Amino acid sequence: MLMKQFTHLSLWLVLFCSCQHEHDSSTAPKDAGEMGEVIPDSESNPESGENEDSPDSGVQTEESPDSTTENEPDNDITYDKQRPGDAEAGYDYLINGDYLGCGIPKGAYTISQRGQSVSENLKLPGRNDLNADLIYEVNAFETDTGVEVVAPNCLSCHATTIRGDVTIGLGNPNRDFSVSPALPLEALRFVVFGADNKAAFDRYKERTQIIADTSTTPVIGANPADAVAALLFTHHDPKTLAWSDAPLIDPPTDVIPSDVPPLWNVKKKETLYYAGVGAGHHNRMMMIASMMCVDDVTKAAEIADKFVDVEAYLETLEAPPYPQDINSELSAQGQAIFENKCATCHGTYGENETYPNRVIPLDEIGTDPDLATSDAFFRSIYRQWYNQSFYGKISHFEDVEGYIAPPLDGIWATAPYLHNGSVPTLEGVLDSSKRPTYYRRSDNSYDYDPSLPGYPYEELTEGHAAISNPLDRKHVYDTTLKGFSNSGHTFADDLTADERQALIEYLKTL
Ligand code: HEC
Ligand code: HEC
Repeated sequence: MLMKQFTHLSLWLVLFCSCQHEHDSSTAPKDAGEMGEVIPDSESNPESGENEDSPDSGVQTEESPDSTTENEPDNDITYDKQRPGDAEAGYDYLINGDYLGCGIPKGAYTISQRGQSVSENLKLPGRNDLNADLIYEVNAFETDTGVEVVAPNCLSCHATTIRGDVTIGLGNPNRDFSVSPALPLEALRFVVFGADNKAAFDRYKERTQIIADTSTTPVIGANPADAVAALLFTHHDPKTLAWSDAPLIDPPTDVIPSDVPPLWNVKKKETLYYAGVGAGHHNRMMMIASMMCVDDVTKAAEIADKFVDVEAYLETLEAPPYPQDINSELSAQGQAIFENKCATCHGTYGENETYPNRVIPLDEIGTDPDLATSDAFFRSIYRQWYNQSFYGKISHFEDVEGYIAPPLDGIWATAPYLHNGSVPTLEGVLDSSKRPTYYRRSDNSYDYDPSLPGYPYEELTEGHAAISNPLDRKHVYDTTLKGFSNSGHTFADDLTADERQALIEYLKTL
């Protein structure tokens, strides 16, 4: 059943793989890892908690009534009061911390890098000694058994380079999840020495293999994080978090891809995720991305305490300013159009900004429904797992169906667009007749074109069915694949070309 034999890596795991990076290819070391899925944070306000009965730190283990009924968020969720987060401590934990729990022993990781040193622009400030020379996408840390390991961190998906500069919070649209992490791990086993190191390596490798099948996607950039999260739920007991090699509930059968959303918007969001389901304390919900090797509530509670700070750090992130000149007259015209046609869903910007936090029903938005409806992360058994779990104590999945109208801050930088990354340029979002059905786009962030804004692409006449070579196929975006449709969001189709140009000019200012 689910675990067919290994193949692919779960996002998290990965390291070695051949992942493509978006970095400037001339300086980027090859691969790095990817890691885990996701989940977010947000600003949920800690103090608003409904019945805070619990102590803080969230460790409560007393179970929430398990009576959660299908499809229904657990109404007994409790929200503990928490101390306010410390953003500086949160950054430190994000880039040096041990929230992944397992990884590849450092010596073996170093060998896997084949002596390549990491260029300075891909290193992070504030790294500790163990991490100082590593690329921004991985953390080195000591496991509970005292082994120094390296594993993909949150930034493996939630940071990307813009013209060579690492931009924290910008989703990585160029990671290659089409390849299996399992094979490189097999080979690496021969360079792991010592019983403790071998045990640490095997733990990471076994987990990677178990969730491997759920983590591949057909094209570069399509991110399987949601499916991996669902799979991790199936292998953990919701109450104790104990790991089970066999799935405890039905595993997901489909990998519905998504783009990685920018984290600077999280502070505006009441509910996280594209589907707008992630309610309550977002610091707890973000921990889903650290679940792979967290197998008991005590360890989870330690991480939870630090994630209060991680959330505080994420709330300090701001969208990068548009890097080129803006025509202010044109943008003023665009602002009027925006406030007339777009602001009811996307909010207003500048002074006294507003953000309505609206989840738009699928029949109204018309974009690909699969992420929100199919056998994917947001289906009821996974909502139920979450709401009953340690994580569900102070956060929960809401029972809504649709897509959230996201804040548009920094929208110039976040192509490809829509939740599944199906539209390569902003113009395509605003004119559905300009959306290519089949296309090949650059996967090098140096090619990103802020004046479009978006990724330059070449339109093709055929999709995946006509391409036999997987190495070629993974570069071709085929919007007829399940989960990849570029339909819907036709709200700007009736604008004239001039109006649309003005609107785009305004969007660059956000
Ligand atoms: C393998 C890639 C990957 C990794 C690793 C990852 N994320 Fe994510 N993250 C995603 C994707 C994809 C989404 C969008 C999922 C969705 O909305 O359905 C997401 C969503 C989020 C969100 C919600 C954003 C929003 O606007 O609703 C937050 C917050 C977040 N991630 C934080 C984290 C943190 C913290 C970590 C590390 C512990 C992490 N992520 C690791 C891919 C990743
Ligand atoms: C009825 C509500 C609604 C209206 C009106 C609306 N949008 Fe949207 N918009 C959405 C939703 C919901 C999404 C997310 C859809 C998805 O990802 O599947 C979205 C997505 C977008 C995106 C892509 C965001 C991203 O990160 O990929 C852009 C850009 C955008 N809208 C701009 C506009 C503009 C400009 C207008 C006005 C012409 C507008 N929208 C009108 C609801 C709306």
